[in-house]
Amino acid sequence: MHHSLPLDPTSAAAIADAGLRYALVDPGDEAGGVAWVRADVRGFHADDVDHKDAVDNLRAFTDRRMTGVYDDTAASPEIPVATVSSWVTSLTTPGTPEQTQTMDAWAISSVTVSPTHRRRGIARALLEGELRTAVAGGLPLAALTVSEATIYRRFGFACAVLVADWSIDTRRAKWTGPAARGRVQFVERAALRAQADDIERRARRSIPGEVDRWGRRWDEFFGLTPDTEKESKGLRAVRYDDENGEPQGFALFKLKEHESDFSAHTVVVTEFVAVTDDAYAGLWRFLLELDLVTEVRASLRSVDEPLRWMVADARAVRKTAESDHLWLRVLDVPATLTSRRYAAPGSIAFDVRDALGFAAGRFVLSTDASGAAACTASDAPADAEVSLDIAELGALFLGGISAATLRAAGRLTATPDAAAAIDRLFLSPTPPRLGIWF
Ligand SMILES: CC(C)(COP(=O)(O)OP(=O)(O)OC[C@H]1O[C@@H](n2cnc3c(N)ncnc32)[C@H](O)[C@@H]1OP(=O)(O)O)[C@@H](O)C(=O)NCCC(=O)NCCS
Repeated sequence: MHHSLPLDPTSAAAIADAGLRYALVDPGDEAGGVAWVRADVRGFHADDVDHKDAVDNLRAFTDRRMTGVYDDTAASPEIPVATVSSWVTSLTTPGTPEQTQTMDAWAISSVTVSPTHRRRGIARALLEGELRTAVAGGLPLAALTVSEATIYRRFGFACAVLVADWSIDTRRAKWTGPAARGRVQFVERAALRAQADDIERRARRSIPGEVDRWGRRWDEFFGLTPDTEKESKGLRAVRYDDENGEPQGFALFKLKEHESDFSAHTVVVTEFVAVTDDAYAGLWRFLLELDLVTEVRASLRSVDEPLRWMVADARAVRKTAESDHLWLRVLDVPATLTSRRYAAPGSIAFDVRDALGFAAGRFVLSTDASGAAACTASDAPADAEVSLDIAELGALFLGGISAATLRAAGRLTATPDAAAAIDRLFLSPTPPRLGIWF
């Protein structure tokens, strides 16, 4: 569907005014696609790619809308001076254990502007164009992960999901968590790759903030692409099968040898997926009890990992970093707010400001005891009143950022009771998380 959405005319005019050309890359145009990929990798300071590798990279974009900005007077006019890509992704939102909730969101990626053309408003034209295109396509929410935390608020985005890096001192940890009933076994990477999609999709159902993966990304994770193959010789793959032999999780990890002590390897977990609590316990226990290992590290994990409560010495499990990860931009307040379940009944009036004019107004959200919600533009009174910018509504949406904290920070206006009421309703049964960059 999104491939057929036309280029945004307002941004096309702004870019034409700057003497440049705004164009979609035709998915059938290999040369155009390769040039676009080369601009994208250059924009993020990555190594250049030859034609073969660029064609392989393009597999990541088969479902995407690729847009470029071209300078026909440049030395290599075929290489765009700016890029952006976008697609419809399925975002998990807070649900109930019985009922998964997902919603379609407009994922935006590959935002680059060549250093030769920076700070002339090109990124602004691209971003605003993406938001208008999302609205034209009926998408209520846009999502991205960011290189810098200072760029996107001006477009109405805010961080909705924080993630953490963890380090576990395995000599101190000592497993005290539940004994898993299934078993962990080594599997060939290529064989596990074939099952990964299904296992991860089931795991993702209960994790708000998670989005669709795509084929080439899995190939990269498993070290099965031309550019990841060589450095992935040391990548190990284990799978957790439940007592009925059903795969319920897997982990990919690498071992780093200590420079002087062979008994002190570090395990770097590059992917950890668990559908069930049993799989979570079984896989973590396996990793923590590896011989000749003293430290296990994992990144892009939840800020509230149950693992901390599964070892004898909780101080052996340290959060080494916590950072903003998934950023959201609400484009349609009622459609977004009704795309999740809520933790309590109540009503909240949101008085929303939106400098870009997509979603401003006063909206009343009403939730019932089942967690279902209705939301309409309305002047009706509500239990709690809050006034905020559209960015902060995105921050609150998945229940990962607290209204009380935003109130204390001066980022929304509400009484302490009203902020507490929002937090009661928006609480997510599982803390939001997102395990990939996109
Ligand atoms: C970040 C980047 C896309 C900005 O492109 P640009 O065309 O120079 O940006 P614009 O001229 O359209 O600037 C738009 C606004 O963002 C601001 N801005 C631009 N880059 C910024 C940055 N790195 N940090 C903070 N603010 C930034 C500008 O000041 C401007 O603000 P204003 O319109 O409110 O006055 C470009 O520098 C780039 O490609 N960087 C490397 C790749 C990257 O980090 N991409 C982001 C991926 S998530």
